[in-house]
Amino acid sequence: MNALEAILKRKSTRAYGPAQISEEALENIIKAACAAPVGMARYDTLHITVVQNEDMLARIFNEAEEVMFKAVGIRKNMNFGAKTVIIVSSAPAYREGVEYAHAGIVIENMVIAATSMGIDSVILGGPISAIAQNEALKTDLGIKAVFEPLLAVAFGYGSEDTPVKEHTISVNRV
Ligand SMILES: Cc1cc2nc3c(=O)[nH]c(=O)nc-3n(C[C@H](O)[C@H](O)[C@H](O)COP(=O)(O)O)c2cc1C
Repeated sequence: MNALEAILKRKSTRAYGPAQISEEALENIIKAACAAPVGMARYDTLHITVVQNEDMLARIFNEAEEVMFKAVGIRKNMNFGAKTVIIVSSAPAYREGVEYAHAGIVIENMVIAATSMGIDSVILGGPISAIAQNEALKTDLGIKAVFEPLLAVAFGYGSEDTPVKEHTISVNRV
């Protein structure tokens, strides 16, 4: 699968089967993350946390469920049964907001690499505030105080075959 095919094939998967991704696939996903461009080459401002420990996954997503329930009264577990979740954190970048661009680019590199290997994914902003607000959870995840968790992504093999969504973003040409 070439890069454009992987980009066009990517979709969010919200129901995963029991299979874990292989170590080789995980290494390739991390390699793709580390190949991402970062403004002023400040790679030191970013940190990646791979979570595969089942107790830790349960802790993160139970906490996220409670935070969402308190905020909007809806109870939903956003783990969707995925066995691998990767969190991208950042220290302050050279300009406010650039951290989010970096995290988004790192995440997109990972999901495109995963798609090219037949691995499904869903980008997760929802659980992030639950981690960021819980110092003990952040510490237990090995995320140092200087880093703020910004975006996460879940990987696995979808248990249902859902179609790729049609999207458009407005475009003008001058
Ligand atoms: C920054 C960002 C945060 C997202 N957060 C969530 C989330 O918390 N939960 C979720 O189910 N999907 C989340 N998504 C997935 C989007 O809902 C999804 O990409 C969008 O609906 C388009 O569908 P598709 O990915 O299948 O093309 C997020 C996507 C992005 C880019």
